[in-house]
Amino acid sequence: KRVAILLSGGGSNMVKLVESMRGDHPAQPVLVLSNDSTAGGLDRAAELGVPTEVVDHRPFKGDREAFERALIAAIEPHAPDIICLAGFMRILTPLFINTYAGRMLNIHPSLLPKYRGLHTHKRALDAGETQAGCTVHEVTAELDDGPILGQAQVPIEEGDSPETLAARVLKQEHVLYPAVLERFAAGNREPIFLG
Ligand code: GRF
Repeated sequence: KRVAILLSGGGSNMVKLVESMRGDHPAQPVLVLSNDSTAGGLDRAAELGVPTEVVDHRPFKGDREAFERALIAAIEPHAPDIICLAGFMRILTPLFINTYAGRMLNIHPSLLPKYRGLHTHKRALDAGETQAGCTVHEVTAELDDGPILGQAQVPIEEGDSPETLAARVLKQEHVLYPAVLERFAAGNREPIFLG
């Protein structure tokens, strides 16, 4: 299976996904695309030998669909079977989502359905949660919704800040996302739960 990874930032999840697809694996990385030409993940992808593309969202201003048509035009020549969103910070409309319906994954840094949206760690801390974590789900038109394919749970420690919690969760993201992708690429959609 051919995998395209979309990112907006440093790409630590992308690196783990690309590294996981070596050897005997049902998927291979064919593209890393960013909406931001300065994203560190683009350099890391190039270092890993993965083709990259940039589609800057700014020229499209509020015309989300025009931006998404440009995204699709940049993605399609690479003919991906699966799209992995990994820190891709643009809201996607049904136009893009329907193009890749049933074959697009996202990782979100909370135990969905809790804490959809942004600032998930601060919100979990403010709410006095004792557990936090991350979720890989299929992308549907509802933001941070869609069938859950995997979750990893971490304890919230005494004195945690959003930063210390984010770092603990990120470590689990790097385990969860590759595990889910391998199963998904092999046609297995049974969700997994890491303690
Ligand atoms: C991660 O925290 C992920 O949960 C969220 O954005 C961040 C991506 O980080 N979607 P990176 O760019 O993969 O390092």
